[in-house]
Amino acid sequence: MKLHIPTIPSSEITPKELFYNRRNFMQLAAGATMMSLLPQSVFAGDKLPNVKKADETPTDKLTSFKDITSYNNFYEFGTSKESPAENAGSLKTRPWTISVEGEVKKPKVYDIEELLKLAPLEERIYRLRCVEAWSMVIPWVGYPLAELLKLVEPTSKAKFVEFISLEDHDQMPGQKSATLEWPYREGLRIDEAMHPLTLLTVGLYGEVLPNQNGAPIRLVVPWKYGFKSAKSIVKIRLLENQPTTSWMKAGPAEYGFYSNVNPAVDHPRWTQAKERRIGEFLKRPTLPFNGYEDQVAHLYSGMDLIKNF
Ligand code: MTE
Repeated sequence: MKLHIPTIPSSEITPKELFYNRRNFMQLAAGATMMSLLPQSVFAGDKLPNVKKADETPTDKLTSFKDITSYNNFYEFGTSKESPAENAGSLKTRPWTISVEGEVKKPKVYDIEELLKLAPLEERIYRLRCVEAWSMVIPWVGYPLAELLKLVEPTSKAKFVEFISLEDHDQMPGQKSATLEWPYREGLRIDEAMHPLTLLTVGLYGEVLPNQNGAPIRLVVPWKYGFKSAKSIVKIRLLENQPTTSWMKAGPAEYGFYSNVNPAVDHPRWTQAKERRIGEFLKRPTLPFNGYEDQVAHLYSGMDLIKNF
């Protein structure tokens, strides 16, 4: 249901990003005692400082900023592709903390400002392949998750890493429906989590991450289906046993723990052999491990990837 307010909402007269910035800004300013205490680069749309440019220029054309930020999966804000961009303005990205805990010698609650400065920010141009058989090419900004995991010193029992997104039914209207079990949970094996391609991500196109893309901080695991890349993370737990993820609970026959992009293993309801690149018309073949085979196939040597889908 839509509310009818007899004035023109500012979302109609300003670009969406600016509108959201302003709402965030007002929420933040109301809570801050001194403006000078405000951290830099708080808002979606702000440039992130000191981002090292990507070393490699991909042969694939980048997906447009508009497509990356208006065609999203973020069920906390609704299940249609448009609803995250429409609804994620209610997400408050400051203050924000991530608790890193479990099988670690040095558990710690990290403030987002500290996380932004924990390691040099790099641009990484990755292909994102959604399990629904569409894909994009996105210039993310972040640093390897390994940089954070090293600091908490995983114990010898730490075999898996669980990622837990925010649960807040007021800020995230989609959580009023039981579309998934909330909070959104994902997981990786520890060697996958420590792999240099696994990116703790705070931006895209050089800017602070828009809310609909998982602000203020999310994961990006480019050789796995997009749903492994949890958004708006508040907790990282190191575990001895494999965690059960939200998607495994929702459809155990359809979504496995590994979920490596694999054109040879179809989803029970559709083929994974091809994908539609957003912005293109013709489908293209899907590549094993989403094209990152050389870098990651060794992680799975000796494993049956049909059983471990
Ligand atoms: N993280 C949370 N918390 N909630 C979600 O619904 N959707 C996943 C993943 N991370 C999702 C999530 C899916 S299915 C995909 S394809 C990617 O986010 C989409 O990321 P993007 O919208 O930035 O392209």
